[in-house]
Amino acid sequence: MDATRIEEVVGDFVTLKKRGVNQIGLCPFHNEKTPSFTVSAPKGIFKCFGCGKGGNAVNFIMEHEHFSYPEALRYLAQKYGIEIEEEKPSPEQQEAMDEKESLFNLSAFARKFFEEQLHETEEGKAVGLSYLRERGFSLEVIRRFGLGYCPDKWDAFSQTALKNGYKKEYLLKTSLSKEKDHMIYDTFRGRIIFPIHNLSGRVLGFGGRIMTNEKKRPKYINSAESEIYHKSKVLYGAYFARSPMASQDNCFLVEGYTDVISLNQAGITNVIATSGTSLTTEQIKLIRRYTDNVTLLFDGDPAGIKATFRGIDMILEEGLNVRIVLFPDGEDPDSYARKYRPAEVKSFVEDQAADFISFKTKLLLSETSGDPIKKAKLIKEIAQTISLIPEPIERTLYTRQCSEMMQVEEKLMVAEVDKLRRQRFKQQRLTSSEKEQLQDPPESPAEKQTAGPYEENHTQEKELIRLLLNYADHTMVFEVENEDGHIEEMPVKVVDFVLQDIREDDLQFDHAPCQQIFDLFAEKRDNDKLPGRDAFTQYPDNAVRELAINLLATKYSLSPNWEERHKIHVVGEEEDLKPRVVQAVYAFKLRKLEKMIDASQQLIQQAESDETKDDEVLMRLLETIRDLKIKHRMFANALNRVITK
Ligand code: GTP
Ligand code: MN
Repeated sequence: MDATRIEEVVGDFVTLKKRGVNQIGLCPFHNEKTPSFTVSAPKGIFKCFGCGKGGNAVNFIMEHEHFSYPEALRYLAQKYGIEIEEEKPSPEQQEAMDEKESLFNLSAFARKFFEEQLHETEEGKAVGLSYLRERGFSLEVIRRFGLGYCPDKWDAFSQTALKNGYKKEYLLKTSLSKEKDHMIYDTFRGRIIFPIHNLSGRVLGFGGRIMTNEKKRPKYINSAESEIYHKSKVLYGAYFARSPMASQDNCFLVEGYTDVISLNQAGITNVIATSGTSLTTEQIKLIRRYTDNVTLLFDGDPAGIKATFRGIDMILEEGLNVRIVLFPDGEDPDSYARKYRPAEVKSFVEDQAADFISFKTKLLLSETSGDPIKKAKLIKEIAQTISLIPEPIERTLYTRQCSEMMQVEEKLMVAEVDKLRRQRFKQQRLTSSEKEQLQDPPESPAEKQTAGPYEENHTQEKELIRLLLNYADHTMVFEVENEDGHIEEMPVKVVDFVLQDIREDDLQFDHAPCQQIFDLFAEKRDNDKLPGRDAFTQYPDNAVRELAINLLATKYSLSPNWEERHKIHVVGEEEDLKPRVVQAVYAFKLRKLEKMIDASQQLIQQAESDETKDDEVLMRLLETIRDLKIKHRMFANALNRVITK
């Protein structure tokens, strides 16, 4: 970590330009046109003010290259010419660590086995390969997507895997094999195999298609969920579509494996498939790493149209743009791509792509056939969809377009959309305040140690820790009266002021990561040292590290053009540190006292309703509350003075 320079690590992937003490560039984790991705060399961290991603050099490599933690360390070691002596883990450690790895290894073995069966065995060639060739797939795409064939025998694959040392346990966990009456058999027997890859190209699972038209057995069988395969997070083809999606700033979303492959063969490579399940928010977020534009390519049958409607709303809600192409009834992208030449397919999807309003309107307007009630319902439905769009400008443009198409006054349309948005906000606020009530029970001293996750923002605690992290060794000057009655200037470091003030009252932080950071400062300071920023940005505990990085990367200290963007002048915090620090300490104490008062009041209520009421306990509690309230007032006054001065 000492050898690592964040700007060099990031610089291998992102073009960085100097901006003040920082460097900025276009964020590699989301699509943007003006740079909000910031690297701070002195702090050793990166932070994107667009998508929120942030971290140290290791985090960057993990995120960017989809590496595990050890993989990222090995990468950095290699980059800086440092040799890593790998320690051999104990068999138990190995096993625990390797469960996932074993599933990956077995899946890789299976992929290879199936592919060999397809290309190199008589059965595979005669049954599997000929089927694929008849459907018009070229050898090139068959190879690129790693298609395979599972022999039509009970356990050809399972036995081969066992013989090669793969454990039965993992065969079952990947659902490559099934077990019945102590007999193990192949899940995918007699099927064409479509391997499903993650974003770094490792195989997570499989889809298997039968080659007949029989109705008794399912057309496709897919791997079950496993420790490595989470259906809601995977899109078929995403590995191959990664860079085309980014470079063309668009992706085509289709339903099936074969649609992805056929379109690829037609030269359209930015294609991904939901594989028969409905689209999830996680999948949309995955798309957003590469592009903000999605074009849905769906069958024109009623089921396809319904799936399209759901998809449109979800995509818009995530802030992406959506266009739609419906294929003529009975056709899907695969069959269409087989019928027409690649250039024709390309121009079809380009010409047909409609924005969602034209799409919904055209589709539904014919159904209304001049009936004003039906038309009103349609307008409301489109307004509902428009109201989901988070960006105000886009929302306005769509509202205008819809009012033109539906021939209603724009004002009415705007009012309808606004009403729907207000309703939704109200609902959200209600549920979140209900949540607070449920999850934020007043703390009683007895509960304190065992208190569960505290769902609150801990704003005051974080602000105090933020100041510590950013300015611990800055000096503030206080004026004190000395024994002779003279005013004297006394310099105090931020860290000492905060530590003393908090420890004096023996106060604890409720937010555990805040407390951990505070403790680290206290421990070092007691030895007359100060922890470096690295101690936090490279802290092993995720919660602590993420908190520290977020607090170090604030609008004051990092954002490239915060002031410009918000047309305000932010006074450099350093120039104005003392009131900020004092204020933060008071605010922290106030919040703490409020919680104590709440807790005591709770106890009093309990004590009062208690049958075996103990007057002495009650008296003591009332005294406690009185003391707390006096203190509260004192701090509140002090805080007011700081703020108004
Ligand atoms: P072809 O008929 O070979 O062109 O496949 P297709 O991909 O066009 O299939 P279809 O459009 O019928 O279905 C789309 C996707 O839904 C498929 O790629 C599968 O991922 C999934 N799917 C289809 N049928 C089944 C099934 O019977 N079971 C399961 N689990 N998934 C299915
Ligand atoms: Mn098909």
